[in-house]
Order: sequence, then structure tokens, then C-alpha cells
Amino acid sequence: MVGASALLAKRAVDSGAGGVVTKSIGLKAREGNPGPTVVETPCGLLNSMGLPNPGVEEIVKEVQILKKFDIPVLASIYGFSVQDYVHAATLMVEAGADGVELNLSCPNVEGTGLEVGIDPSQVEEIIETTKAAVKDAVVIAKLTPNITDITVIGKAAEKGGADGVTAINTVKAMAIDIYLERPILSSGVGGLSGTAIHPIAVRAVYELYKKLDIPIIGCGGVISWSDAIEFFLAGASAVQIGTGILYKDFEIFHTVLEGISQYLKKRGVNDIQSLIGNSHKTST
Ligand code: DHB
Repeated sequence: MVGASALLAKRAVDSGAGGVVTKSIGLKAREGNPGPTVVETPCGLLNSMGLPNPGVEEIVKEVQILKKFDIPVLASIYGFSVQDYVHAATLMVEAGADGVELNLSCPNVEGTGLEVGIDPSQVEEIIETTKAAVKDAVVIAKLTPNITDITVIGKAAEKGGADGVTAINTVKAMAIDIYLERPILSSGVGGLSGTAIHPIAVRAVYELYKKLDIPIIGCGGVISWSDAIEFFLAGASAVQIGTGILYKDFEIFHTVLEGISQYLKKRGVNDIQSLIGNSHKTST
């Protein structure tokens, strides 16, 4: 996730990323929440951006640039109704996006994201209607970890016809200024990404792999190549890197790829495909 700029996305791909997911886009432009919207903690990044974005029309131009470079693009979409999701997704696919990742998990804005993403029937309906509208384009559901059993939502997405799920979005969290004696984020609570949430994400992928037949994309705290390997062994078919770019810059893609390649060579394994889900073989 590198914002909504085609040039930054291209930099990620030039650094080794296989494709890009945009910052979440809605039908209308949003300013986002007032500051402070980001807090760096010792173990991850806490944010409450409030879905700032220039609106779908502006992003159409960025997607068109990316497709000129032949870069695989998933457009992340949020909406305040089923029709919002469908409309924004359709515009993105018409602009050339290879698919959409539906944000059913943002913890920071009322009426979208997490609020719909914890209700299996709404998740199924949003996926089913979007899939019917975008036809052959890929539809992925990005799931929230802020729920007791993530597999219930994963199953609902699968039932709605999702081509895959991304696990996980940010974990609800907060930080308090001990001198001002109040929350640091203007919204109080935000979403935590980065190192702290990696084990939570690995557990979510592991649980989803047991129950789902569609592919899982691991997301959360991939900083080193070994974090990516953990995701593959838990059952992910691909991984995303977001907050890791802030820690390691775009070099992270090259470092992770190189580390994975060395690991495979050292272990005499031919490809990543043969690692997927292997941790389940020895589990109880
Ligand atoms: C925001 C959106 C997300 O999906 C998320 O996980 C965290 C923050 C936001 O824009 O507020």
C-alpha cells in the first residue's frame, strides 16, 4: 500500500513488488481525520487517517498510468453502501485495474470498513454484488482482525464469490500522551500496523487456511524475509508489504525477495508454492 500515487507504486514494482494495492478509494473525495492521525510506537504504527483520498475520478488517472507501465493493480475500495462499493469498483476496473480489494475492515470511519466487515451477511452481499458487476476482474475481501472468529467472515466472503481474502487489516489500538493525559490520536482509537501485529496476522491466516478453499494474502508486519516465509507456511499464497516500507524504504522488496530465494536454496525447495500451508502438517 503506497498511497494513491502511480509513481510511488511504480517505484515499489521497480524494487521487486509483484503488483500494488492502492490506498482505499471511495466515490467522493475525503479530507480524512484532523491531526494527529499517526503515532509511531516501539512496535508498530498507529493511525487514524480517516480514509483520506481524492475520490475515484482522480485515481482513475493514476490507474491508467500504472497500466501503461503494465503494473498489476488492485484498487482498494470502501463504501457507505453496497452500491458505493459496486460503483467505485466498476470505475476502477473500467480504468484498467486488474481487480479490487474491498476494504471491509478500516477501523477509523463510521458506516464503512470494520462496521460492515464484522457482519457476515453484509460481507457476502457486498462481495456478491461487486463480483457480478466487475465480472472477470478479481475481487478480494480485506478482513478485520477485530472479531472473535475471523473465519466466519472469511467463509462469508467465499460464499459471496470472492477470489481471495487479505488477512489482516489493522488492529484497534491507542496511545496516550502521559503529560497531556489524553489520547494522542485526534480520534482517540486508531488501527495498529507493523511488527506488533505480525503474529496476530499469522494466526489469522493459519485459521483461514483450515476453513477456506480460496487463496489468502498475508498482510501485517512483514519487515524481514522470514516474516513472509511464516505467512506462506501458515497458508498464504502471497504477501503484502505496507508499513515495512516506512521502516526499510523501497529496498525492503529486494531484501525480502533475496532472503526468500536464499532460504529456498538452503532448504532445497524449488518454489514458494511448495511451502504454502506446510505448518499445518505437524499441527494438532
Ligand atoms: C485507515 C484505513 C484502513 O483500512 C486501516 O486499516 C487503517 C486506517 C484510514 O484511512 O483511516
